[in-house]
Amino acid sequence: MENQNTEIVRKKRMLSLIQPTGTPTLGNYLGAQRNWVRMQDEFDGIYAVADLHAITVRQEPAKLRQQITEMFALLLAIGLDPEKNLLFVQSHVPAHSQLCWLLNCNTQFGELSRMTQFKDKSAKHADNINLGLFAYPSLMAADILLYQADYVPVGADQKQHCELTRNIAERFNGIYGNTFTIPEPYIMKTCARVRSLQDPTKKMSKSDENVNSYISLKDDKDTILRKFRRAVTDSEACVRYAEGKDGINNLMEIYSAITNKSYDEIEAEFAGRGYGDFKTAVGEAVAEELRPIQERLAVLMNDKAQLTQLMKDGAEKAQYVAAKTLAKAQKKMGYVMLK
Ligand code: TRP
Repeated sequence: MENQNTEIVRKKRMLSLIQPTGTPTLGNYLGAQRNWVRMQDEFDGIYAVADLHAITVRQEPAKLRQQITEMFALLLAIGLDPEKNLLFVQSHVPAHSQLCWLLNCNTQFGELSRMTQFKDKSAKHADNINLGLFAYPSLMAADILLYQADYVPVGADQKQHCELTRNIAERFNGIYGNTFTIPEPYIMKTCARVRSLQDPTKKMSKSDENVNSYISLKDDKDTILRKFRRAVTDSEACVRYAEGKDGINNLMEIYSAITNKSYDEIEAEFAGRGYGDFKTAVGEAVAEELRPIQERLAVLMNDKAQLTQLMKDGAEKAQYVAAKTLAKAQKKMGYVMLK
């Protein structure tokens, strides 16, 4: 009985950062961000704008500033409650850079060289293979470990980085004594895997050259309807979920994720009707889902004072949590602490 009073059971911590490079797509939203909102009562959410990661590829300063602000506003606009979650901008918390250095010195060249994202990005930006691009995963490890996160929701592209984070943390704990919580990858249950509207064998991506292949969270209704009308399907003209019908399967997945209808229900709804009707229905449903987000985003972007205040509040809370872990790591490594 005594223990119940002394030991506060804390919720598990769920943490993710998002880069402020381009507007997220419907795929990012249905595959990840919407679930962060749904989980906000179950977990202590920690979500931040990864603006330090963004400069591993060259950014235009004025544009970067705008995108950081907008990405922070978008976290709020999708429905993350700043009372229930810790929302902040990475660069506002110096401990990220500081812990990153300590972790850099505990991460091997060989480990970082094996990261597929490093290999891909250095092939793509051959003229700017900078040290930050190489150390990207140890900064990501610092993001996660500073907050003693229990879970990191991950898609396939970040799985390897999360695995490396665990290795770095385990090694550090082994050498210097227990310092970091070992984070687990969190596979989301209700996670839609949204594919390109132009090539449904590929994942929907904001970096796709063809703007018709993705829906941006900022696309207006006309654009959304037009992009769905142009979506690649097949010649069967029958709305059913089946192998070899990647385009229709993708549209059904999107429609189902938004309306909560099962594939059977969707097939029944569109029985005997053509793809045109179905595409319009999917477009309308998506536009309706995004409308309130876009409205909230517009309000927030017009109220810079409020945004700045929310950034400050988040930064202050994050600094407090992060500083504790940083100090713990510094102490264990042998640094002289001034307090
Ligand atoms: N690397 C992630 C991405 O590009 C962003 C990121 C940075 C992140 N730090 C993180 C994700 C910590 C999860 C946890 O998508």
